[in-house]
Amino acid sequence: MDENGLPSQEILRQLQDLLKEETGFNSGRIMGSMCTSPHLFAQRVYRKYVDKNLGDPGLFPATAQLETEVVRSLGSLLSNPSAVGNIVTGGTEANLLALWACVRSHSDRRESEVLVPSSVHCSFEKIADLLGLRLVKVKLNEHFQVDVAEVRRKITSRTLALIGIAGTTGLGVLDPIYELSQLAQQNNLYLHVDAAFGGFVLPFLNGTPPFDFRLPGVSSITIDPHKMGLAPIPAGGILFRDRKLHRKLTWTVPYLSGGETSQTTFVGSRSGASVIAVWAMLKHFGKAGYRKIVGRCMKLTMELAREIDEIPELAVVVRPTINVIGVKSNGPDLVKIVQSLREMQWAVALFPRYMRIVIMPHVHKEHLNQFVQDLRQVVVDVN
Ligand SMILES: Cc1ncc(COP(=O)(O)O)c(C=O)c1O
Repeated sequence: MDENGLPSQEILRQLQDLLKEETGFNSGRIMGSMCTSPHLFAQRVYRKYVDKNLGDPGLFPATAQLETEVVRSLGSLLSNPSAVGNIVTGGTEANLLALWACVRSHSDRRESEVLVPSSVHCSFEKIADLLGLRLVKVKLNEHFQVDVAEVRRKITSRTLALIGIAGTTGLGVLDPIYELSQLAQQNNLYLHVDAAFGGFVLPFLNGTPPFDFRLPGVSSITIDPHKMGLAPIPAGGILFRDRKLHRKLTWTVPYLSGGETSQTTFVGSRSGASVIAVWAMLKHFGKAGYRKIVGRCMKLTMELAREIDEIPELAVVVRPTINVIGVKSNGPDLVKIVQSLREMQWAVALFPRYMRIVIMPHVHKEHLNQFVQDLRQVVVDVN
């Protein structure tokens, strides 16, 4: 830090220069991210209430009340209006809170294994390390869902919890949560559903099999407004089926200006503006608004999947369930394809055996047309 400060205009000029190389969502060239530019109304609301701190709910009781309402709304979207929980920093913290509550509700520490699909998000590696748990990875079936027979075989006296994913990070697949719920009930196990991405997509599609609190074995669900909810980062969501579980996360903080309080999140100070922006988004869109956004993304997703299957050297890994497409190569080096696309300023995600494309609301038809044209060219060049 320099001794003397600079005028704001000068700093803004410097920032513009320093950040100019970064690709913006509005360019339409970010095709591999699960986030997007927050809705303009959410940005306005966020800016207006940027000083609210939910680490001190006694000081911001009305903001705390809005969080309760948001959690109730997300709960009813996931078939349980009496769900309890918090808006947190993201899917990682939400998944952490789920397993932390699970650990704290088990006195028997021999139970330390968590059965996860091998498609699980890498946040679980961090969480297992923090909580001293062992992840037991379960292979996938031919539809890239967790293999339920294998989960059943791997349940032992050391098993603490099962994880199912509603919209996997790589391919957007929905695990057989109904069967996992049955296994959880039969074996008296905790089942957490990671719907960080799919939570704002699957409820708005026709014919989605039940994956939420309708299934009695589901104890908690992650659902992130800062992904398909179009809310500003940080806004993840953790919902627990009942208060008993959520209470396991209660930590007393005695010194705050709003008076002694209890926190149920990992972080202390946290953005009230995030919560208020999510509240505003849910009110602004309603279910019909989100259904429309998801419908548009899905239409483009299916169009892109068809276009990709028409390129002989490429194929879609699995028919998309949600707005996530995995693309594999039938020959040309996929790493080179991704490198070339990145050199052309296309931001796509690379997984070990496929490239991931996510059709977020910032992607429009003209972007897709350009992308397909460039992809075809790159495949020819690389081959
Ligand atoms: C299924 C799933 N869970 C959790 C996460 C982690 O979310 P965050 O990056 O908000 O912590 C992601 C991120 O993409 C995800 O896809």
